[in-house]
Amino acid sequence: MSLIDSYGRRINYLRLSVTDRCNLRCRYCMPAKGAQMLPHHEILSFEDLLRVAEQAVAAGIRKIRVTGGEPLVRRGILPFLARLGRLPGLQELVLTTNGILLGEMARGLKDAGVQRLNISLDSLKPETFSRITRGGKLSDALSGIEAAEKAGFPPHKINVVLMRGVNDGEIMDFVELTRERPYNVRFIEYMPTHSGNWRAFSIPGSEVLERIAERYLIEKLAPGEHSGPASNFRVRGAQGSLGIISAMTGHFCGSCNRLRVTAAGMARGCLFSGDGVDLRPLLAAGDDTLLRQEIRNIVQAKPAGHEMKGRAAFPPASFHMSGIGG
Ligand code: GTP
Ligand code: 5AD
Ligand code: SF4
Repeated sequence: MSLIDSYGRRINYLRLSVTDRCNLRCRYCMPAKGAQMLPHHEILSFEDLLRVAEQAVAAGIRKIRVTGGEPLVRRGILPFLARLGRLPGLQELVLTTNGILLGEMARGLKDAGVQRLNISLDSLKPETFSRITRGGKLSDALSGIEAAEKAGFPPHKINVVLMRGVNDGEIMDFVELTRERPYNVRFIEYMPTHSGNWRAFSIPGSEVLERIAERYLIEKLAPGEHSGPASNFRVRGAQGSLGIISAMTGHFCGSCNRLRVTAAGMARGCLFSGDGVDLRPLLAAGDDTLLRQEIRNIVQAKPAGHEMKGRAAFPPASFHMSGIGG
């Protein structure tokens, strides 16, 4: 069974957000006061999340990325992941985390069957890390990253959202990190969320690449099975690699393979496609065949791409990445 949308794209990757809560409050993700949190009763139970995942896999999804908020703050996440990983037909179970809880949970994640981790790490300087995350401790994230390596995960992808004047002075430090460690460090263009002045911060991927190429000899890497939305390259002689995710200026919509479901059960074909379709009435009705059909319908209605570049007034104030899972 496969899911092909109306533009001929094969949709085989589900980003499943399990909570809108987080133990950090990154500036690019939430406003200073924090995002309005969903009341507990509006968050899908693990049983319902599993039903959604099961029907998505039955319809053609092969890879599930669990996101949040911060997925590791949800109580009971490890047994849930173990059950998710056992869904027949699912080939890849992966997770995106801020790393803070990995010190205590990395081994449990490995045992639960999570195959790879993407970890957000926006600065290698304690003060800047704390400023971006509004109080997070860099040492917690770094020790989490190390614990996950020890637990036997393959080299992590490290996500760095670049913000002009905040952490772009550290681009070369992250490049150096890939010389010492086998990580795939990916620089991400800051996407508009709640903040009206995002344009002042967002740095085009092309500029990042130019800045690196001025200082290093770089070799482009061919797109691989795990390159996702990033275009990857390597600094000559480095153990790890670098990637650019041109979330705003890029053109990866044409090869997009994703579907998203939020913790509140809203399914959306595109990160920026409005509030999405509420799956809860179907979950309440109890007929999982209808649920599968609805997933197919949402894929059929998936837009060709986002129209962010020309939209001055986007996004609406209610758009928080923490509620969608990136
Ligand atoms: P892989 O499965 O390893 O390819 O990971 P990923 O890049 O899909 O997931 P991750 O959670 O690490 O996200 C990295 C960055 O890419 C985040 O800033 C996401 O918001 C962004 N991103 C992921 N998917 C999309 C997408 O479909 N559109 C846009 N514009 N950005 C995306
Ligand atoms: N722009 C770009 N990336 C973002 N993320 C969260 N908010 C934004 C934003 N406004 C990233 C996080 C995490 C991933 C899931 O999404 O850094 O790595
Ligand atoms: Fe796909 Fe939408 Fe993301 Fe574009 S913005 S890559 S269409 S999910």
